[in-house]
Amino acid sequence: MACRKWYMGTNTKMYKTIADTNRFVSDLCTLTADIPREKFELFVIPSYTTLDQAGRNRDSRLLKLGAQNMCWEEQGQFTGEISPLMLREVGCDLVMIGHSERRHIFMETDEMERAKVRSALEHGFTALLCIGETEEEKAAGRTAEVLRRQLETGLRDVEIPQLNRVWVAYEPVWAIGVNGKPITIAYADEMLSAIREILCDIFGVSGEDVPIFYGGSVNPENAVPLSRCRDINGLFIGRSAWDAEKFNRLIRQVLESRMQEDSDACGRSHEQRKE
Ligand code: 13P
Repeated sequence: MACRKWYMGTNTKMYKTIADTNRFVSDLCTLTADIPREKFELFVIPSYTTLDQAGRNRDSRLLKLGAQNMCWEEQGQFTGEISPLMLREVGCDLVMIGHSERRHIFMETDEMERAKVRSALEHGFTALLCIGETEEEKAAGRTAEVLRRQLETGLRDVEIPQLNRVWVAYEPVWAIGVNGKPITIAYADEMLSAIREILCDIFGVSGEDVPIFYGGSVNPENAVPLSRCRDINGLFIGRSAWDAEKFNRLIRQVLESRMQEDSDACGRSHEQRKE
């Protein structure tokens, strides 16, 4: 796993004005410019009003920009919604779909997420589908069933050739935000592997290549242990990434540990060849 591409990104939720986001994005590009991007991808998902200027200010080779939501229709009588055409116009690369706060505060359904994923892919975006169980679902032992339903419905219209533009974030609802409860690495590891298995059930071997991220109170203490889970390809972070300097430190902490893991693995296989 360690040699695969690694992703780190942040959703800035309903924080940061245009000026804040411009500063954040340009600082992040400067601070991380020396990190080669062949095996590493960095993304920021700020609020809609910031996307245009942030898109102009960032170096697109260093940073991908995403929208926090999107309507499945191009236009129409959908007051308060944002169209894929509008997001394309501001140079957005990806669209986040089904974030826990959309599902649970704004009552979005799996069928809505499915329509959004389909539309995002049709309009050339990468679709980042967020899934995760609530505390009640976890307590009732329904997590696996919930994750399967969210993936099977959300990704129902996805064709295998489009899969290289699908990312999945596992964000347990109970672990997100200021009131989030701590997650154990063993639990995250088990759920991430369950998600990989479901993706392979849906898409066959192609499911192996879909990047899976963990999100929900990622912080400097748990980032490295989480990054060592078997089926993880990236970290999706809220609060701990909203300061560019701190996010840069977190990125380097994780990348250094992954490099160490790679070199240990190389050392081990060298030793085995000698034996
Ligand atoms: P926190 O890291 O602040 O819990 O937020 C995670 C999240 O919701 C990312 O989308």
